[in-house]
Amino acid sequence: MPNEAHLLPAWALLAYLAAGVLFILALRGLSSPATARAGNRYGILGMAIAVATTLITHEVASLVEIAVAVVIGAVIGLVIARRIAMTAMPQLVAAFHSLVGLAAVCVAAAAYVNPVAFGIAAADGSILGVSRVEMSLGSAIGAITFSGSVIAFLKLNGNMSGSPILLPTRHVLNGLILLGILGLIGYFLRDQSPWVFWTLTGLAFAIGFLLIIPIGGADMPVVVSMLNSYSGWAAAAMGFTLHNTAMIITGALVGSSGAILSYIMCRAMNRSFIGVISGGFGAADGAGAAAAKTDRPWKRGSAEDAAFLMKEANQVIVIPGYGMAVAQAQHALREMGDKLKEHGVKVKYAIHPVAGRMPGHMNVLLAEASVPYDEVFELDDINSEFAQTDVAFVIGANDVVNPAAKTDKSSPIYGMPVFDVQKAKTVFFVKRSMGGVGYSGIDNELFYMDQTIMLLADAKKMVEDIVKAL
Ligand code: TAP
Repeated sequence: MPNEAHLLPAWALLAYLAAGVLFILALRGLSSPATARAGNRYGILGMAIAVATTLITHEVASLVEIAVAVVIGAVIGLVIARRIAMTAMPQLVAAFHSLVGLAAVCVAAAAYVNPVAFGIAAADGSILGVSRVEMSLGSAIGAITFSGSVIAFLKLNGNMSGSPILLPTRHVLNGLILLGILGLIGYFLRDQSPWVFWTLTGLAFAIGFLLIIPIGGADMPVVVSMLNSYSGWAAAAMGFTLHNTAMIITGALVGSSGAILSYIMCRAMNRSFIGVISGGFGAADGAGAAAAKTDRPWKRGSAEDAAFLMKEANQVIVIPGYGMAVAQAQHALREMGDKLKEHGVKVKYAIHPVAGRMPGHMNVLLAEASVPYDEVFELDDINSEFAQTDVAFVIGANDVVNPAAKTDKSSPIYGMPVFDVQKAKTVFFVKRSMGGVGYSGIDNELFYMDQTIMLLADAKKMVEDIVKAL
């Protein structure tokens, strides 16, 4: 059978290539907050070119029907994107991935049912061998992505407990199912009976559920990024079936960037990737883990104390974390920075790669509050400066400044790189109560150190009070 890609006019192939280049530029742009907007625009332009080219060059059922579907989808997407809180972004991404997975299964099923229409039928009407591999892989990865993303969404959204659900024989069961899927993909090359295709798709749906339920809430963002990667590979596999180069390029980009992001997140949390996907770590939000011990001596300060000491400082380093996002304190924080700069204080912001609950969480919030990019530093670039800094202002962060990561081998976060804030002359620690813990659910030695002053209040309220006092 003819390969449809060979029948496409040269301009269409060039347009797909241009779309691919624009997607690469989009990823490049998204790697820094300063260029993220431009990156987004490249992505939108690339997608518009890819969709328009496909609509023009393919005989589609009805352009009107497609236009109606696009408008409905666009309105739903716009409303969700406008309403969603930044802290709920991981579950939104999980929900979107589930749709990508389902779309891949639908395309594979359509191609299986009607191979002639997809140009993948041999002269005798059977499906070409290579297309059988592509469609079975696309369907299996798509089904895993769908059911896995649904579980990730339910856990992150609080509809299902974030605690790991550990079946006693899960590794054996998962191993057998995975072997079954691979065996059926191989057998599908010899026998294209419906039972083979549907059984392997059904098993893939099941393994998606089974792989994600043992994973605890704390590891869920890594899982979302991993599922993102799977959705890319599923799309790339379907791109081969549809002979669509733009889809192959996009799928490969999503697949590889998702895999790289999962790796970077695991490294920043000192977790092994295999450890994450085999599950069992991290009760959600520290539930069930030991709460902070409040019977040890600690110092409490006020907004006025903080304003006084920071005004006199040469340099203040702000370390934002999840609590700043929850309190939406970023605008007040920028105002505090502006006031301090008026007093001749040097202000810097230190961002940990896993501060908050998703990659780039803090960068996005600080950018939204117009904090200048040249005041924002990454872990490796600023960690050596704490020893020469008068004030470290920790706001809603906890695990990312916990010295136990360097000193306590029994700690669940041991080995995770953390900020050496205890080296600053004074540490202000903004959180709501002494009992509240971070994601890992452990106490923090920093609360009880001589140089630490606890500022117990909602982060936004505390910073607003400091701004008034300044
Ligand atoms: P956490 O360690 O989670 O600590 C959050 C702190 O914010 C707590 O001390 C909490 O104490 C405080 N807080 C909560 N709401 C607040 C409010 N309204 N006002 C003031 N304080 C508030 O945060 P972190 O340091 O950003 O660390 C992130 C954690 O998430 C790490 O363990 C990381 O491994 C994990 N994680 C991150 C990611 C990504 S990609 N970012 C992915 C997976 C896991 P109170 O309750 O007492 O207020």
